[in-house]
Amino acid sequence: MKEKKIAVLGLGYVGLPLAVGLSSSYKIIGFDISLNRISQLIKGIDETLEIEKDRLKKCLKNNLRLTNNFEEISECNIFIATVPTPITKKKNPDFGPLKSVCNTISKILKKGDIVVFESTVYPGATEEICAPELEKNKLSLKSGVDFFLGYSPERVNPGDKVHTIDKIDKVVAGQNKKVEKILKDIYSKLTKGNIFIAKNIKVAEASKVIENAQRDINIAFINEVAKICNKLNISVFDVLKASSTKWNFLSFQPGLVGGHCIGVDPYYLSHKSKSLGIDPKVILSGRKTNDEMPTYLAKIINKITKTRSKILFLGITFKEDVPDLRNSKSFDLIKSLKNCKHKVYLHDPFVKDKKHKIIDFDSIKKYQFDGIVIAVPHKFYINKINKIKNFLKPDGFIFDIKGRLNLNSKDKINYWSL
Ligand SMILES: NC(=O)c1ccc[n+]([C@@H]2O[C@H](COP(=O)([O-])OP(=O)(O)OC[C@H]3O[C@@H](n4cnc5c(N)ncnc54)[C@H](O)[C@@H]3O)[C@@H](O)[C@H]2O)c1
Repeated sequence: MKEKKIAVLGLGYVGLPLAVGLSSSYKIIGFDISLNRISQLIKGIDETLEIEKDRLKKCLKNNLRLTNNFEEISECNIFIATVPTPITKKKNPDFGPLKSVCNTISKILKKGDIVVFESTVYPGATEEICAPELEKNKLSLKSGVDFFLGYSPERVNPGDKVHTIDKIDKVVAGQNKKVEKILKDIYSKLTKGNIFIAKNIKVAEASKVIENAQRDINIAFINEVAKICNKLNISVFDVLKASSTKWNFLSFQPGLVGGHCIGVDPYYLSHKSKSLGIDPKVILSGRKTNDEMPTYLAKIINKITKTRSKILFLGITFKEDVPDLRNSKSFDLIKSLKNCKHKVYLHDPFVKDKKHKIIDFDSIKKYQFDGIVIAVPHKFYINKINKIKNFLKPDGFIFDIKGRLNLNSKDKINYWSL
């Protein structure tokens, strides 16, 4: 392979930062099936808030080109796919987007090309699901013979401005040594961190999906501890503070677990596990515990507040300081509160669309609430807490789910947290 011509397919939370990062060293063509996404990005607007306008515009003037026309990537010889890997209603892996991107690549695949996947999957999926799709090409090219596969799990953590993809260690794997070396070269231009070459693609796939399943299980344990502490009338946060003084205590916080990764990836692992005849008891029990948290919280809020209360619900994205609404557990909690006949008013500084009926922050002061639920403690709320306190009726309650507020005892506010 003389010149590396790289296409990044799927320009979301993962693909856009990758395309932008690689464009400092290579000519990159970013491809996405969404014309809306491409049009916005060409204007410098990244709705995921991962890349600032100036930086994106600068890249577009230099090495980065964006398109929704797959023919424009036909000259490329390295394809990096970063498309979603969601689950179905029955919580099974949904390989639709991955198969569809393979189908696109198969139309333009040439001898010697490398196809790399960054999407999170279960171990084996790249070779078992993607390779056969790619082999449906006109030239009858075979995986591992005529074209080659690679895998590099993505660790980007949206909203986290510390562990950015230009600093973190990256795992890569290839179908052979030559591919490994090419991927190591490419990714070492992206990050100052180490490039770890995994034994093979399956190992690299497994490494990613277990990272997220482990996180899910750890949070589930703390959520269970939080419920126990609640019955004991002690604060889980006080307990965690004390336990954290031990050198090998793992630091996790209780809360709602949603989003496209932690609440989804364990189902990929458990699916594979079941197909291998292993009952994934621990993995699924963690999932169940975390998925039940909205119902648990709704019951508590319902018990504490009056019937038909007026509730201000702050934060509907899946986590702090990101605009991502996918699989947000706030929605489950809101639904449960509405089912209990409470009147729920929603606010989130990151959500602008009309669909979610977000109220304007400045208009909130005209209401007085029986309860304020801080479901997602965006910095916006932490910085405005003195204002927010005034939206509460004198006998109202603040439900600070993640225990992030530092209220003054002088405030004399009725307060509950996990
Ligand atoms: N978001 C994260 O924090 C994160 C972190 C690590 C890994 N991952 C994994 O990375 C993958 C991508 O996640 P994401 O959050 O970037 O998703 P995303 O939804 O933000 O972006 C995916 C993009 O792919 C596009 N797309 C869908 N099908 C396509 C196709 N057939 N061809 C071309 N483009 C297509 C969509 O239009 C979208 O713009 C997933 O497997 C996810 O599990 C995500």
